[in-house]
Parts: sequence; C-alpha cells; structure tokens
Amino acid sequence: MADTAATTPVLQHLALIMDGNGRWASARGLPRSAGHQMGRKALKNMVRACAKRQIPQLTVFAFSSENWRRPENEVKTLLQLFMRALQKEVPDLHKNNIRVRFMGDPSRFPEHIQQGMVNATQQTEHNTGMCLNIAVNYGGHWDITQAAQRALAESEDGQIRCEDIERQLSLGPDTPPPDLLIRTGGERRVSNFMLWQLAYAELYFCDTLWPDFKERDLDHALADFARRERRFGCVPQADLKQAHA
Ligand code: IPE
Ligand code: IPE
Ligand code: MG
Repeated sequence: MADTAATTPVLQHLALIMDGNGRWASARGLPRSAGHQMGRKALKNMVRACAKRQIPQLTVFAFSSENWRRPENEVKTLLQLFMRALQKEVPDLHKNNIRVRFMGDPSRFPEHIQQGMVNATQQTEHNTGMCLNIAVNYGGHWDITQAAQRALAESEDGQIRCEDIERQLSLGPDTPPPDLLIRTGGERRVSNFMLWQLAYAELYFCDTLWPDFKERDLDHALADFARRERRFGCVPQADLKQAHA
C-alpha cells in the first residue's frame, strides 16, 4: 500500500456470505432444505468459477455461530449437507489442486464431522491452487476473542498489540484480509462475519438469492470492485494529481 496515494484494486481474497437459500425455496413452495441443497450446488459452481479466475483466496460463510438458533431439523439438514459435501466434493477439490481450510469452532460438531474436516485439511494442505476457506460454526466475535486469548497467553509482558491479535485470527497471519465481500440475498449486513478482517474490505450487496447466483453475477461484482478506489485512509487519487499540477 502506498503511503499517501489511494490504490487501484487488486483482488487477493474474496469473501462470500451465501444468503437466501430459505427464501429461494419458500418462493417455490419447497421446504427450506431444498434451498440449502441448491445452495450447495451454487457453491460448487462458484468455487470452480473463482479458481478459473485465479482468485488466490475464497472464504465462504457456510454456518454461523448464531445458526444453531434455527429449528433443530434445519440445523440437522445443514450438518448432513456439510458432511456429504466433505465426502463428495473434497476429492474433486483435491484433484483440482485446491487447498481446503476451515475457520470456526469445530468442538460443537459431532466427531465424524470434526474428523472429516481434519481429513480434508490434511489431504489438501500441499495443494498450490486456490485456497478455499470454509467458515463453519464461525462468528467474528468468537474469532477476535480466541485470538486475543491466544495472544495474551503468548505475551511476555501481559500486553497485546493489534499485530498480536492479527497473528492469531483463525486464518492465520499468511492470509491477507478480504478485499471484497459479496453478500447475496438482499440483506445489507455482515451478520458477525470476519469482523476484524473486513475493516477495509469493499462491500458488495446484491438481491440475487444464493442458489440463483451465477458466474455472470460474480463477474458483475468483480467489475464493480475493479471500479472502486481503495483509500485506506489516504487522499483520493484525483486530489493528489491536482495537488501536484
Ligand atoms: C443462507 O441462507 C444459508 C445459511 C445461513 C446456512 P438462509 O438459510 O439464511 O436463507 P434465508 O436468508 O432464510 O432466505
Ligand atoms: C449469515 O446469514 C450466515 C450464513 C450465510 C452462513 P444469516 O441468514 O444467518 O444472517 P441473518 O440472520 O439474516 O443476519
Ligand atoms: Mg439468511
């Protein structure tokens, strides 16, 4: 990042809040679970589309720490779909050189899901293509709290600095923060997603429900992002040019 000038956008990390599965199903008179099934297909297509566009990091919000508040049978469906995706999709992701990582607190999941997550991480850890980060039982409050706790445990003087917390966030110090956040489904909020890392992300909200989100919608969001001027607190480029004229 330049010291004084605003910068043109480079996309290293795309974050996605995949919202609208339930409404997609309701609009068709289907159970919400049908929406989640279509949502899984949409994710599969989107992973492929992002890898094709050589986006280095893709982070998707699959299940929030607040989603446990949903009816028991919906939570059960979501966990079953997650497990099935671990079994069915990971070999394919591995074949396509995609690295899979998870963020969130796994301890509330049944043992077989936790094991599936460990296997997927280990199987793909040496892949060199796109990194797919899946947020499950994830909340931004949880992430900052666990990072602060770990930073404090490692601190020699009982003090913690910004960098100490950053180093302990669940994606680790080598992952840059998201440059762009896309939220589908019409809501204009972040719903406890990556609260620390989204500090300077460009936000893109669209009304398309997640199961309907296609490659052309992604390209629309990417084109919008390319037109943004990222300032990080600096002055706009136009003003700088004027100052030097
Ligand atoms: C997103 O779709 C999927 C999860 C939160 C797991 P929703 O299930 O929130 O769909 P809407 O927002 O009710 O339509
Ligand atoms: C955010 O969507 C979580 C995921 C997409 C996994 P929600 O549907 O849970 O968010 P709210 O409840 O509308 O804020
Ligand atoms: Mg929702």
